[in-house]
Amino acid sequence: MWNGHHLLGCRGADAAQARELLSLAHADAFGGTELNGRTVANLFFEDSTRTRVSFTIAAQNLGARVVDLGSKGSSLSKGESLIDTAWTIESMGVDALVVRAAQSGACELISRHVGIPVINAGDGMHQHPTQALTDALNIGRAHGRTGGWDFSGLHVVIVGDVVSSRVARSNAGLLRALGARVTLCGPAMMCPGSLSELGCEVSHDLDALVDQADVMMMLRIQFERGGGARLASSRLYHACYGLTLGRAARMKDGAIVMHPGPMNRGVEIAGEVADGSRSVIRDQVEGGVLVRKAALKLALDRG
Ligand code: NCD
Repeated sequence: MWNGHHLLGCRGADAAQARELLSLAHADAFGGTELNGRTVANLFFEDSTRTRVSFTIAAQNLGARVVDLGSKGSSLSKGESLIDTAWTIESMGVDALVVRAAQSGACELISRHVGIPVINAGDGMHQHPTQALTDALNIGRAHGRTGGWDFSGLHVVIVGDVVSSRVARSNAGLLRALGARVTLCGPAMMCPGSLSELGCEVSHDLDALVDQADVMMMLRIQFERGGGARLASSRLYHACYGLTLGRAARMKDGAIVMHPGPMNRGVEIAGEVADGSRSVIRDQVEGGVLVRKAALKLALDRG
């Protein structure tokens, strides 16, 4: 999972490294002065609500200063390259970069050109490791696996616009490393059979899975990545692949509903299900701060 001091993705994730980070996040092990005098730069070249704010709060909770840069208002809009932008920020004495970019692979590219840790906060359709770690934290908590973070026997079904989803790719790598069974589900256009290369089962039949899953993880249709073009109609999609009240009622006792946000209510998930008793969607947001604190602290310790 760690690549030196960089946290870039969860493909082929190392279970021991993931378990260490999850234990530290779960225990909220770090206090308010651990990163005193350090500066973390958020380079968010793509929109974000929860990821950006949670990295900011996490860094501030550890005593670090935070500087924020987006593509609007930075020299990126004047044609400066991502690498030159990252290198410029590094030269000002920043200690770590948190990077979100629209290009798959951007964070790894930047990491090869700077001497400070890079944490991938979502790169195109590629990886989003701190989201997957946040999801694993919540799965472990909900299913009583916080002792060893061993997810064997748990069946996680990830539903929706999988092909566009960095969240699904990171979760597939991480949850499989922790021992879970992972099934990817959606219409063939959004969930082609070739995704089995992620080491997961692929299905197009949500109704056959609803009463099998310990976790139903619903994904946003990525309209900005062409997901809308793969959609005949939102209403038809909801009927075939949405987590409706009827489907949620068929879930197993103790099974949970997740969504990384932002949600399209009434498309991939019914509003009543998102707000219902099985939903841990708000816990996911809370857990995001704990995971990002641990990720920042470990990245800086490794550097
Ligand atoms: C996701 C993202 O941006 O990758 N959201 C998030 O980080 N919580 C998923 C999405 O945009 O649908």
